Amino acid sequence: MKYLNHISFKIGLIFFVIMIDLEGFIIYFLHQNIVKERVKDEFNSLLLRGNSHRDVLEQYNDAKTIHHVAVMESKSDLIVIVLTKSKKNIISSSPLDQEMRKIVAKPIGKVTHKGKIIESDWEDKKYIASVSPFKDGYVYMFKNTSQVQQLISQMNHHFWIAGLLAFGITLVMIILLSHILTRPLINMKEATKKITKGDLSVEIPVNSKDELGQLADSIRTLAREWNHLRRERSEFLASISHELRTPLTYIKGYADIARKNSHADNGTYLNIIYEEANKLSDMIKNLFDLAKMDRNSFQIQKQNFPLLPMLEQIEHKLSPAFQNKNVTLTVRCKKNILLLADPIRFEQVIINLLDNAYKYSEPHSHIHLNVKKEEGIWKLIIKDNGKGIPKEDLPYIFERFYRVDKSRTRSLGGTGLGLAIVKEIIEAHGWEIHAYSQEGVGTTMEIWLQGGDIIEETAARR
Ligand SMILES: Nc1ncnc2c1ncn2[C@@H]1O[C@H](COP(=O)(O)OP(=O)(O)OP(=O)(O)O)[C@@H](O)[C@H]1O
Ligand SMILES: [Mg+2]
Repeated sequence: MKYLNHISFKIGLIFFVIMIDLEGFIIYFLHQNIVKERVKDEFNSLLLRGNSHRDVLEQYNDAKTIHHVAVMESKSDLIVIVLTKSKKNIISSSPLDQEMRKIVAKPIGKVTHKGKIIESDWEDKKYIASVSPFKDGYVYMFKNTSQVQQLISQMNHHFWIAGLLAFGITLVMIILLSHILTRPLINMKEATKKITKGDLSVEIPVNSKDELGQLADSIRTLAREWNHLRRERSEFLASISHELRTPLTYIKGYADIARKNSHADNGTYLNIIYEEANKLSDMIKNLFDLAKMDRNSFQIQKQNFPLLPMLEQIEHKLSPAFQNKNVTLTVRCKKNILLLADPIRFEQVIINLLDNAYKYSEPHSHIHLNVKKEEGIWKLIIKDNGKGIPKEDLPYIFERFYRVDKSRTRSLGGTGLGLAIVKEIIEAHGWEIHAYSQEGVGTTMEIWLQGGDIIEETAARR
């Protein structure tokens, strides 16, 4: 019963039914035609024989010739009867039986000099018969149908053998073919089964370029991605515990010191404790954000707002820190631009990117924020001339907890979650983010906005 569900069985069955129908039809058609031809040949030869006797009798209508005709047929498997016009028996090559008499007694009807078949039912009657008229009478020819039937049954026998052979060969071919066709599918099924059980070492042995090959490719990609995700998840968990433990170690340590010596300079310790606790709560908030985004319950509320005031507000918010480090920020954006976005999330993105640009730049450097249309795409570009990102790290900076310089950025307070969050928000808006960087030269982050999300108000509308 289980076999009925196998794909090879299903494909095989469909092929088999089609092939057998086709073969059956062809064999039946051939058989019918050959039988028809064979029987027609029999009729023709009977009639020809009768006609040739008739021709002889027409030339020499004497007792000797008539006798000679009868003698000739007495040695063959045909029977000849020569009758007068009034159907009186002149001679016959063998004695007439009941069936022959019946045929002879039947009215001949219209008959030309070519003669005609007067009994053609070779399947049910005992004889087939022809009649050839001549001046003084008729030549009747008979042939026992058992001979014709035997011939046809012999032919049928051959047809049966051919049919059975065709059936057998078709069956074997289809079994082989369906196996060959479905083998790669079954292999893939086995491989994916192993993959789902966690065995990623399996190879999917399909390398063709057709749909099966493409399917195998997709499965390989899925397996790779899944493997990557699994590794990422465990790395993520390891990073989380590490990142949470470090500030906690500080908090615990300094709290302990503060607790033990109540007279000492507790202010410094409490400051450190306060900063580390802050860092922790930031990180937990970020993680919470990311978790929400992962569960797809993350929703953005898009609305239209003027872009320039929003950017200026952010600039204002960050200016104390920027001034502190003597970093200048230039914002360039047309006044009349309306952006369709979630304002809170958008601000989060810009602050994160500016924070990076600021954090990874030396004092006295410049940061540019530009909003402009390039090659038909509206772009928001944040460009710094800070330390840049090494080429080999660039592809990974959007991953969670990824930091280029683990030790140094820790001192800058980074956790490596900022860009991961930025990317999620950007993608939730249907936008794209691209990073370009050169070590020692600077970094450019480009947000490619979707066409419809930016409206340039015309003067008339205002
Ligand atoms: N403008 C930039 N210039 C140089 N390096 C950068 C820049 N932006 C990001 N990076 C590198 O990419 C890493 C990841 O950035 P991300 O914003 O995700 O983390 P972070 O800034 O370290 O921490 P967080 O943003 O969570 O406080 C950074 O650690 C830094 O090494
Ligand atoms: Mg950051």
